Amino acid sequence: MAKYKPVRSGFTSYSLYKLPQIVPFLIVLVVAATADDSDFRSSNSWRSHPSKKLTKPVVLLISSDGFRFGYQFKTETPNIDLLIARGTEAQTGLIPVFPTMTFPNHYSIATGLYPAYHGIIMNKFTDPITGEFFNRNLDPKWWLGEPLWETAVNQGLKAATVFWPGSDVLKGSWTCPKGFCKTPYNVSVPLEERVDTILSYFDLPKSEIPDFMTLYFDEPDLQGHQYGPDDPRITQAVAKVDKMMGRVIKGLKKRNVFGDVHVILLGDHGMVTNCDKKVIYIDDLADWIKVPADWIQAYFPVLAMNPRWGKDVKNPGEKNAELVAKMNEALSSGKVENGEFLQVYLKEKLPKRLHYSESSRIPPIIGMVGEGLMVKQNRTNAQECFGNHGYDNMFFSMRSIFIGHGPRFRRGKKVPSFENVQIYNVVAEILGLRPAPNNGSSLFTRSILLPFGETWEVE
Ligand SMILES: *[C@@H]1O[C@H](CO)[C@@H](O)[C@H](O)[C@H]1NC(C)=O
Ligand SMILES: *[C@@H]1O[C@H](CO)[C@@H](O)[C@H](O)[C@H]1NC(C)=O
Ligand SMILES: *[C@@H]1O[C@H](CO)[C@@H](O)[C@H](O)[C@H]1NC(C)=O
Ligand SMILES: [Zn+2]
Repeated sequence: MAKYKPVRSGFTSYSLYKLPQIVPFLIVLVVAATADDSDFRSSNSWRSHPSKKLTKPVVLLISSDGFRFGYQFKTETPNIDLLIARGTEAQTGLIPVFPTMTFPNHYSIATGLYPAYHGIIMNKFTDPITGEFFNRNLDPKWWLGEPLWETAVNQGLKAATVFWPGSDVLKGSWTCPKGFCKTPYNVSVPLEERVDTILSYFDLPKSEIPDFMTLYFDEPDLQGHQYGPDDPRITQAVAKVDKMMGRVIKGLKKRNVFGDVHVILLGDHGMVTNCDKKVIYIDDLADWIKVPADWIQAYFPVLAMNPRWGKDVKNPGEKNAELVAKMNEALSSGKVENGEFLQVYLKEKLPKRLHYSESSRIPPIIGMVGEGLMVKQNRTNAQECFGNHGYDNMFFSMRSIFIGHGPRFRRGKKVPSFENVQIYNVVAEILGLRPAPNNGSSLFTRSILLPFGETWEVE
């Protein structure tokens, strides 16, 4: 094993304003950062092109949807393993935000905000105040906060998105520019084509290469929903994602920039099995309280309720509290099948760690559903087993992966698991951007990134 020692160059951080002064240093550092890269040393193109192509920090943020932590052990994943071995990994996975759904989580990664603050509180929801329905709409009024592509462009950098929930919403100076922003989302675009679009950006003249790029794979989430997390088709999907990572790595190496690019591979949430035997039926609560179906906006993995009290009801808040108490009484009575796996809350009373109350879009009553349990109104529509996510972010099954590879990430480093709201600041720091207000900690970047200008050298 090679021994590495830290080398300081005196820069601990930088901003855009300093960029012109530091560019010459940057070139030197970038060379130093990759000089110990055996692949570079052995490659002929490295010898024939001693000057590095990239003279600025570049971040490629890759999401593999529904890549549950642990999937990487299901099969051979040589490319993901390479990133882990030479990069920084969240040792026991990346912690999603609640609810552990695709849109809330991708947008938390992009903005550093919990869903209550970025506004995408579920994949689909009805605003309790306006009655308007959100179903992945692109109207910017739904999408609060400042996503990374907007921060980048606001501060004079270039961004490109090959899909990402929210990336085709026009916000601030982000115009979803043609050729640099794939829209609308098209599940049929092969993953290979998505990778190749990203790689083509590295063939542009230096000044045209986007500083920040996103790449989105919808696997293994698709197989996970259909078959649950333990199925041969999941294993195949994991192998496919690894193959796509191989395509990324090979393409970057061919262009002589693999060591320069900050490649971040992560997922939005995990996956757990849902099965018919694990169901809570709302109609089973009828002896305590009758809950009509039209009060329920979502059954599971999050029970979301907005009761419609009559006009004669003076204090709906009080009625909501009574309803919650009655439901919990029924659920904890021991007489409701699987009742112990559902706990109902007024949103203000949800555990603070969920950060899921401070938005008028969140319905007044939320039920926390046990891991893998389903909630249905009644026993009429039976279903097979399948997979789902959206549950409490405390469950290990909801965790995904985080791997960072590139000049600012330590090699072979493991960091404790962290919430994905931290990533916004990490990317902003790498790119030298002033972060917009967010829920990440400004200290976190120091625990995961090498200070700017510090790099690891073979002793
Ligand atoms: C989606 O992508 C497929 C494959 O590239 C293409 O054939 C199809 O026309 C696209 N659909 C839309 C609506 O762009
Ligand atoms: C069961 O619940 C569904 C709503 O989820 C409703 O449409 C249906 O009428 C109910 N069936 C019975 C028998 O109550
Ligand atoms: C999250 O960040 C937003 C924007 O800065 C802020 O308003 C909110 O209070 C923060 N919430 C938490 C729980 O830190
Ligand atoms: Zn997802």
